Amino acid sequence: MPTSQFRLFLLFFISLFFLSRCEPNPYREGERLYKTNCANCHMDNGEGLGALIPPLAGADFLEKNREALPCILRYGLQDTILVNGKTYAEAMPGVQALSDIHITNILNYVNQAWGNSHKPYRLEEVQQMLARCRK
Ligand code: HEC
Repeated sequence: MPTSQFRLFLLFFISLFFLSRCEPNPYREGERLYKTNCANCHMDNGEGLGALIPPLAGADFLEKNREALPCILRYGLQDTILVNGKTYAEAMPGVQALSDIHITNILNYVNQAWGNSHKPYRLEEVQQMLARCRK
């Protein structure tokens, strides 16, 4: 077989390999994890639920509390907070089963979904933020 044809063949199988892996895309993984862990409260479209659950779509809180978000996902939040000028006071449970990578991918999904456009998180950065609240 001529070399160029062999290379094409090889490329084909390499792409098949990557396509068949279940989570080749961190944003997709973030979306999947969001849907299973967060959407039941914050909704698929991130708009929250009335006066009980704050929105994530267009929420000023994300930008203002960037450093605190990884710890909120892991350990929850029980506070009175202000999101887009509205007060919320229900407690959010943390999801301790999420790994550092899961948290990074969920936050990057939330940061870019529904018209949001916030700075992405790097894994090392998330780990430093988590180190401050590790229990
Ligand atoms: C059981 C319902 C529930 C679940 C599940 C939940 N949250 Fe929350 N979330 C809340 C409530 C209630 C608050 C307000 C907490 C407070 O006032 O102290 C909140 C606050 C927040 C905030 C800060 C306020 C804002 O709107 O920006 C973020 C960010 C957030 N949640 C993200 C998430 C993510 C990401 C997940 C999934 C890993 C998640 N939440 C899962 C109920 C929930």
